[in-house]
Amino acid sequence: MRKPKINRMVLAMCLGSFIMLIFYFQSHLKVAQDGGQARGPRKSVRSPLQALYTTDPTELSPLQLMHQSRRDLLEDVCQSYTHKRRVLIPEDLKHLIVDDRHGLLYCYVPKVACTNWKRVLMVLTGDSQRDPLQIPANEAHVPGTLRTLSEYSISEINQRLRTYLKFVFVREPFERLVSAYRNKFTRSYNTAFHKRYGTKIIQRHRAEASPEALERGDDVSFSEFVRYLVDPGTQREEPFNEHWERVHSLCHPCLIHYNILGKYETLQQDSSYVLKLAGVDGEVTFPSSAKSTRTTADMVASYFKDISSAYQKKLYNLYKMDFLLFNYSMPAYLKFT
Ligand SMILES: *[C@@H]1O[C@H](CO)[C@@H](O)[C@H](O)[C@H]1NC(C)=O
Repeated sequence: MRKPKINRMVLAMCLGSFIMLIFYFQSHLKVAQDGGQARGPRKSVRSPLQALYTTDPTELSPLQLMHQSRRDLLEDVCQSYTHKRRVLIPEDLKHLIVDDRHGLLYCYVPKVACTNWKRVLMVLTGDSQRDPLQIPANEAHVPGTLRTLSEYSISEINQRLRTYLKFVFVREPFERLVSAYRNKFTRSYNTAFHKRYGTKIIQRHRAEASPEALERGDDVSFSEFVRYLVDPGTQREEPFNEHWERVHSLCHPCLIHYNILGKYETLQQDSSYVLKLAGVDGEVTFPSSAKSTRTTADMVASYFKDISSAYQKKLYNLYKMDFLLFNYSMPAYLKFT
């Protein structure tokens, strides 16, 4: 018998694309009802994923067509920009929150209404019917309150990736970044971030820093923050904090084929759509956010006035995949061409 000498690399690559093909095709199948460990009575017999694909493709509503084109665009960008394909590992799934009762997988992205989505999922997976807004924000972020997909076994992970409705909410990348900067570095109460990141940023990126600034780390400027982000040493040392890490790295949208790509710009509409697909639109309403402290496009432009074009370009390149994958155009206030 001939013993074929199979190149290990080729084998690994085949295996990789095979596993990804499974994820890809199965997310488009009308899978049999299998709600995992469905506790309690269910109002809807269809899973949310089935609800998404039961409509006759010739009768799609404008909303459904818009979501379809968001998915198509993301697939196109993934195909043209990701050359090295790889397999998902459990470590990649730490941001995916699991709702076994309804069959939902939500990838949370900080600064994109993730507190409210976590609150809604606590209501959906919990036993008490509460108004999401009655859950204190800090309670929504306590580790272990909600289960993440990385905690499951490989076969449980695959089953959920195949049969659950997978969704993520994204936001214009620089709006999200400025929002993170304002929240973590300009509010006096965020002392943990000042100590953990602020002191380091000032030490490395401020000439002649005062001893108080080095000690407290509470007055980081936006341009110092930008220099910290684009410094290649920063990511060599440790991954970015999730508040400024790219969605591309947090949620792996080229490997996990999200069924719904929600946007912060259409938050209420996209959230209602997800809740409707889950069959819970009568039970829980997505909280409408307070607009008072919201970071606006004008505000973002004013922060970028202080950034040199060379650094603007470096920063854009750092967040480029998030701009491309989610169809955000390059901001007009950027000065480089
Ligand atoms: C992408 O953005 C452009 C400009 O904002 C818009 O006209 C187009 O419909 C968007 N495409 C998708 C697929 O969302």
